[in-house]
Amino acid sequence: MPLTQPLPAAARTPAPAASPLQIRDVTLQRGANSIFSGLTLDLPEARIGLIGDNGAGKSSLFRLLCGLDVPQTGSVTVRGLEARTVSSKRPGLVGMVFQNPDEQIIFPTVAEELALGLSPSGMPRRQAISQARVFLESRGLAAWADRAIGTLSQGQRQHVCWLALLIASPELLLLDEPFASLDQPGQALLARDIARAGQQVIVSTHLLDHVRSFARVIWLERGQVRADGLGEQVCAAYQADVAARIAAQALSYQ
Ligand SMILES: Nc1ncnc2c1ncn2[C@@H]1O[C@H](COP(=O)(O)OP(=O)(O)O)[C@@H](O)[C@H]1O
Ligand SMILES: [Mg+2]
Repeated sequence: MPLTQPLPAAARTPAPAASPLQIRDVTLQRGANSIFSGLTLDLPEARIGLIGDNGAGKSSLFRLLCGLDVPQTGSVTVRGLEARTVSSKRPGLVGMVFQNPDEQIIFPTVAEELALGLSPSGMPRRQAISQARVFLESRGLAAWADRAIGTLSQGQRQHVCWLALLIASPELLLLDEPFASLDQPGQALLARDIARAGQQVIVSTHLLDHVRSFARVIWLERGQVRADGLGEQVCAAYQADVAARIAAQALSYQ
């Protein structure tokens, strides 16, 4: 049964920062596709999971929150700022791990890529690269510093994307399917990092165990909120729906 009731107040753990993320009556069209039509969401919790089939709108929601896409109507604000202005006004506010690491990585080596995350702080480049080396060493990854990005596997590149976000340490972490290519140890490390992060984290995933314990999980379906509530309940409802569709052989690619 769809769960659309609001979370009990006790289940909501507000993020430390003052004003929450707000999506107000947003319409988003990409090319010929209508992605969102009248979407409204308040996102104040410290941990929020985003689930749903391929094409449901998870990445599109992240693109709105980090200002990469601008809605045709409605508004998206992050801590009181219009999302599309955040990268210029407060570059340290929002950071995102892209679903595809190759959309994120710019520099040829790991240390250079990580150093990029320190540039909004005004740190000189040489110092940033040496700090990136120290950071990699602290994670047991000193040997990665001079590795050419192109010589890393997909999962390793995804790991680099997460490290780049960790070292940059923005106030809001948007993680779009960050577990997708990671091996089991990599998933465990990332789950540990997320649990320890002092920032607000929004994470989309098909690996429901990584968000099942969250106080809030949102299930998107064709650009609409199908369910929004406790992680355990929403994940169970989604799994039941998938199981029913499998049984009815009513599965489709969108
Ligand atoms: N660049 C694009 N141009 C037009 N439509 C797109 C583009 N990217 C995604 N879409 C469409 O937007 C919808 C939501 O996609 P997306 O946000 O990527 O879903 P999810 O991340 O949940 O898999 C889908 O119908 C998809 O086909
Ligand atoms: Mg996606």
